[in-house]
Amino acid sequence: MSTESGARQPRITTRELIAMKQRGERIVCLTAYDYLFGRLVDEAADIVLVGDSLGQVVLGYDSTIPVTLEDMIHHGRAVRRGVRHALLVVDMPFLTFQVSPEDTVRNAGRLFQATGAEAVKLEGGDDETARHVRALVRAGIPVMGHIGLTPQSVHALGGARVQGRGGEAGERILADAKALEEAGAFAVVLELMPAPVAAQVSGALTIPTIGIGSGPACDGQVLVLHDMLGLNERFHAKFVKPYASLAEQVRGAVREYAEDVRGGRYPDAAHSFEQ
Ligand code: KIV
Repeated sequence: MSTESGARQPRITTRELIAMKQRGERIVCLTAYDYLFGRLVDEAADIVLVGDSLGQVVLGYDSTIPVTLEDMIHHGRAVRRGVRHALLVVDMPFLTFQVSPEDTVRNAGRLFQATGAEAVKLEGGDDETARHVRALVRAGIPVMGHIGLTPQSVHALGGARVQGRGGEAGERILADAKALEEAGAFAVVLELMPAPVAAQVSGALTIPTIGIGSGPACDGQVLVLHDMLGLNERFHAKFVKPYASLAEQVRGAVREYAEDVRGGRYPDAAHSFEQ
């Protein structure tokens, strides 16, 4: 949100996000994984998410599964230094919120304290997950849910495919979303589901839905920053709109620099110091 003069409002809160849904204002969310991109994204986003997608786009893993709590703390702290306006949410990585509610609270508490984030996000919406969400909310840790395609379960789901196709699967997603709302989540990410399913879920909840690959009816949208900037050329998905082609620009700049250095054109007098 900006004022008429263009200045950004003070920090976004979870209450403000719910009020934005009530006013019909779309919520803007993007991921960031370091200080500098965190600062840039903070200029326009309402929510900055330190996603465990950092496993793929920063650490070079094939999935989010190898990402650890230490990884999330390390990157979450860096992003925190750049984010002043948006609500900062940090992902809970694989196996940090499944064992027991006590373990979940301990892990989320570490993430929360060490990063200074305002909320954590975790995947899943079944009754057991809702129990963990309830424990976190009780401990004073705001939670964003994440249902539909849950990347940490990519192998159990049989691949990164659209979820909730067919009446029964769509009903399951709706039930999961309601369970998360009832457990106290302040928002829920809807990943890779048919647009009508996401529309039905968004209409049924009082908390905002943040869509990714789930059509236009969600209360907000999120994308992985490196995908929308055209930095991650190995990932192609129908739902990603590239807003820049940074990989090409980076490649071109590096090539030009290498040619200049090899050709003795850099550094020249303009980039050197006199005695
Ligand atoms: O890890 C991540 O970046 C995410 C978003 C894609 C929602 O969970």
